[in-house]
Amino acid sequence: MKLITVTGYKGGCGKSTTAIHLATYFSELAERGSEADRGKTLLIDSDPNRTAIKWSKRGELPFIVEDERKAIKLIPGCDYVIVDTPARPASDDLKELAEGCDLLILPTIPDVVSLEPMLATAEDLPANSNYRVLLCVVPPYPSKEGEQMKADLIEGGVPVFNAMIRRTSGFGKAAIAGIPIRDLKDKTKVAWSDYQAVGKEIEEIING
Ligand SMILES: Nc1ncnc2c1ncn2[C@@H]1O[C@H](COP(=O)(O)OP(=O)(O)OP(=O)(O)O)[C@@H](O)[C@H]1O
Ligand SMILES: [Mg+2]
Repeated sequence: MKLITVTGYKGGCGKSTTAIHLATYFSELAERGSEADRGKTLLIDSDPNRTAIKWSKRGELPFIVEDERKAIKLIPGCDYVIVDTPARPASDDLKELAEGCDLLILPTIPDVVSLEPMLATAEDLPANSNYRVLLCVVPPYPSKEGEQMKADLIEGGVPVFNAMIRRTSGFGKAAIAGIPIRDLKDKTKVAWSDYQAVGKEIEEIING
């Protein structure tokens, strides 16, 4: 079983959207379309706002979503467990989250307001943490904000995914419909390929 945690000190930077779409990615690996195998990917919604649980109740997600209490029983037998967390976990909680997982993902928006809390989160992690920053809500071409911040992070020695998540209204539409952006019927669904690219990078990281 592989455990992937999505967290960070800043609110509203795409944590829940990332957790849902990575769980979608891993459910494709785990389930191969079979209803019975859906349990192999579990999203634990440990945010009291229950963003992911509400998302799933508005529509249908291709994996199980439960709060942390109900999820415990389901963890054995899962291939992939993704944990969505509230913004601003206490630094002790952050250390526990980091120590308990195979990979910690810190989503951040490429702007100065988001950069500082992300760097503060990274600094509070235990020294040997396996983590990556994921640039989310990245403005479209010709803006260079995403690529620029990625280059700055790499230069500063901060591990960052090569793939970035573009800014698109599709993620809001998917949230309202209660589905992954993959299952939308309009052209904004192309942004699914961004999370697929991140998923492939994660597979390489966690499978060594
Ligand atoms: N790539 C994106 N493009 C456009 N909008 C996005 C994108 N990712 C997330 N959003 C929107 O940004 C808002 C915040 O996203 P989300 O809920 O995933 O963030 P969060 O970090 O989980 O927030 P919180 O700290 O409140 O839990 C939502 O309205 C979501 O639809
Ligand atoms: Mg959230």
